[in-house]
Amino acid sequence: MRVKFVAGNWKMNGSHAGNAKLLEGLLPALQSMSGFDCAVCPPYPYLAQVRQALRGSRVALGAQDVCAFGNGAYTGAVSAAMLGDFGCSLVIVGHSERRALFGDTDAGVADKFVAAQQAGLMPVLCVGETLAEREAGTTEAVVARQLDAVLDKAGAAALGRAVIAYEPVWAIGTGKTATPEQAQAVHAFIRGRVAARDGAAAAAVRILYGGSVKAGNAGELFTMPDIDGGLIGGASLVAEEFVAICRSAVRH
Ligand code: PGA
Repeated sequence: MRVKFVAGNWKMNGSHAGNAKLLEGLLPALQSMSGFDCAVCPPYPYLAQVRQALRGSRVALGAQDVCAFGNGAYTGAVSAAMLGDFGCSLVIVGHSERRALFGDTDAGVADKFVAAQQAGLMPVLCVGETLAEREAGTTEAVVARQLDAVLDKAGAAALGRAVIAYEPVWAIGTGKTATPEQAQAVHAFIRGRVAARDGAAAAAVRILYGGSVKAGNAGELFTMPDIDGGLIGGASLVAEEFVAICRSAVRH
């Protein structure tokens, strides 16, 4: 049985004052809960503030992206070694916003995945199709392509030490959630694709669902056999919502 995992992706949101308030709402409630894993991923400038607030808590610290290169002449970039040195334990790679707006390619995402693992960070690999791709019936082909780039580069066993987040682009920030059945079907497809190369990795890898997860729909998503938690955007910025989503993770 895989322990559920709930991760908050704050995206490019926050301020010192706002983060302090959010963490005050989150941490005492999360501290009294157990039976699931939990993380928050703030923007880089707030990692220090959040790290300080998380000391002694059960919540892990993550970043939202990482440079594929090692330390050196890469102005504006942040390496996996730096994130590890700083105390991050995970990092999101291949989020659809990075793919769509910042030019992240399948191969580049695979490089980031490998760089993260080499630095001891757990990558959270995001995959997912656009609405046009779903309507064209190419969801599995798209997800397979995104996944295979990482399987080929990192090796299937590496997936057993990572997290995958299935995030249909049409469900991100839109209020349109995939139904539990729609999500389960793709999660099962992803697990099967890893299993074809490495059964142990497939059994171990946690596959999160992301895309308009809220307190009101987390429970039904988390009951599905291949949904091992959630990557939460908008609702992770509202303490009561995030805590309620975590509560759903405990129950299932
Ligand atoms: P959302 O974002 O929960 O706001 O839809 C999820 C994500 O992009 O990780």
